[in-house]
Amino acid sequence: MLTGGKVGLRARHEDDIPVLRTELYDDVVNASRAEGGPWRPLKPDTKDPRLVVDDTQQGVVAFSVVELDGGALIGTATLWGIDNHNRSAHIGLGLLPSSRGKGYGTDVVAVLCHYGFVVRGLQRLQIETLSDNAAMLGSAERNGFVREGVLRSSAWVLGEFKDEVLLGLLAQDWKPDPKG
Ligand SMILES: CC(C)(COP(=O)(O)OP(=O)(O)OC[C@H]1O[C@@H](n2cnc3c(N)ncnc32)[C@H](O)[C@@H]1OP(=O)(O)O)[C@@H](O)C(=O)NCCC(=O)NCCS
Repeated sequence: MLTGGKVGLRARHEDDIPVLRTELYDDVVNASRAEGGPWRPLKPDTKDPRLVVDDTQQGVVAFSVVELDGGALIGTATLWGIDNHNRSAHIGLGLLPSSRGKGYGTDVVAVLCHYGFVVRGLQRLQIETLSDNAAMLGSAERNGFVREGVLRSSAWVLGEFKDEVLLGLLAQDWKPDPKG
């Protein structure tokens, strides 16, 4: 397991799946804002790759996020679009509603940076998020990500086009302790 100050990132367990499905993907607003595509219902036995991890997919690494104190499941974290030629990847995360706004997101981004830069030897990590997602922007910027551009009206979210912000962090600019 990878550990930060407050969270651990471990493999997806079978019994994580119903919790993540109910709390993240059955929530139309959350899923529509976070997924970049239209919401659709997931069957109880779904094999959707956001829930059921396919270890043979080399370009994606999916984690379940747990509290270090007690081990409770609090969300998901993903390194995706891993490009071993350009040595870059994207970061994604989603926390259960009751676990938001407590600093966990900032810690998850820190652990994903460690995984990307140290474990995988990547040079660049990237995040795309809606321009009104203050918590995601804060979690990224606290870890040293910088805003590289705005993708105007790039996301269709529940009846309107929204801007997305593109943030990037290079290995040489990364400082492992975001609170430091
Ligand atoms: C986005 C998300 C992962 C951030 O994690 P989090 O644990 O809530 O964020 P943190 O508590 O670490 O807060 C990060 C920063 O944002 C600020 N923040 C948190 N929630 C906020 C809110 N609702 N409004 C404004 N600022 C907020 C914090 O004060 C903190 O700022 P600081 O570093 O200056 O102190 C989490 O809120 C989440 O899962 N949201 C729903 C799914 C989602 O949006 N995923 C991202 C898709 S790209």
